[in-house]
Amino acid sequence: MTGNAIVTGASSGIGREAAKQLAQEGWKVLAVARRENRLKALEQENSNIVAHVADITVAGAPEAVMAAAAEKLGGLDLLVNNAGTSWITTVADMPVEKLDQIYNLNVRALILMCQKAIPLLEKSEKAQIINVASVAGHLPMATLAAYCSSKAAAIMFSRVLAKELTERKIRVNVLNPCGTDTEIFEVAGGNAPTEEARKGMVSAADMGRMVVELTQLPAGLDIGEVAVHRRLNPY
Ligand SMILES: NC(=O)c1ccc[n+]([C@@H]2O[C@H](COP(=O)([O-])OP(=O)(O)OC[C@H]3O[C@@H](n4cnc5c(N)ncnc54)[C@H](OP(=O)(O)O)[C@@H]3O)[C@@H](O)[C@H]2O)c1
Repeated sequence: MTGNAIVTGASSGIGREAAKQLAQEGWKVLAVARRENRLKALEQENSNIVAHVADITVAGAPEAVMAAAAEKLGGLDLLVNNAGTSWITTVADMPVEKLDQIYNLNVRALILMCQKAIPLLEKSEKAQIINVASVAGHLPMATLAAYCSSKAAAIMFSRVLAKELTERKIRVNVLNPCGTDTEIFEVAGGNAPTEEARKGMVSAADMGRMVVELTQLPAGLDIGEVAVHRRLNPY
């Protein structure tokens, strides 16, 4: 199945891979993020990708993204809410601007993107939302209180939304990645992962593939939430 898709956080990591692989499968993809050069490069590499530069935490941005999908793609069948951020610190030392950044993106923008997408998705016969949360949403980790709790909120929001949107025939699923080798560790203020730590992570390409796989569930089947872990003994 293919159609028209929005992928947020498409300028790096899991979102970039998901956008590329969806486009390769024949989806028309509106690739959303703040870094224009990254998005333009992606657009030039793939004729199925249209760049849309936006900070989705800014007032009016979710509405503008939906307008761009309607105008440039001609409709919407799939919303992948992937953009997310983190900041590594104890609660005692948490800067309020980092708390706001995490909650504004990981929770508030994700909710508003879903809300503003409903009118477009309702027009599709095969509408779906995939919200990228994290295994951290179920796993209390010291120095990640804001991140873990934001992902727990994203998971519960998505599970409730799935129930509300059943009658409107819009499927909502959550992908909970485990540690994935992306730039998120660079923006989170901690030390870069060691070579050894990186070896234990999933590649961004494999996690991006999981987004594509979720789009292919048989109609009428729901999984709700899927946690992805790396096999340590691949066959
Ligand atoms: N990597 C992991 O270990 C891991 C594990 C579990 C869950 N996840 C989740 O997976 C998702 C993707 O993360 P990633 O690991 O691929 O990280 P990443 O490489 O840092 O990608 C994050 C993406 O979000 C975009 N973004 C950040 N702030 C934004 C804003 N205000 N408006 C629009 N776009 C924004 C970034 O692009 P710009 O900077 O260009 O805007 C970037 O494309 C996140 O939700 C993350 O929490 C990651």
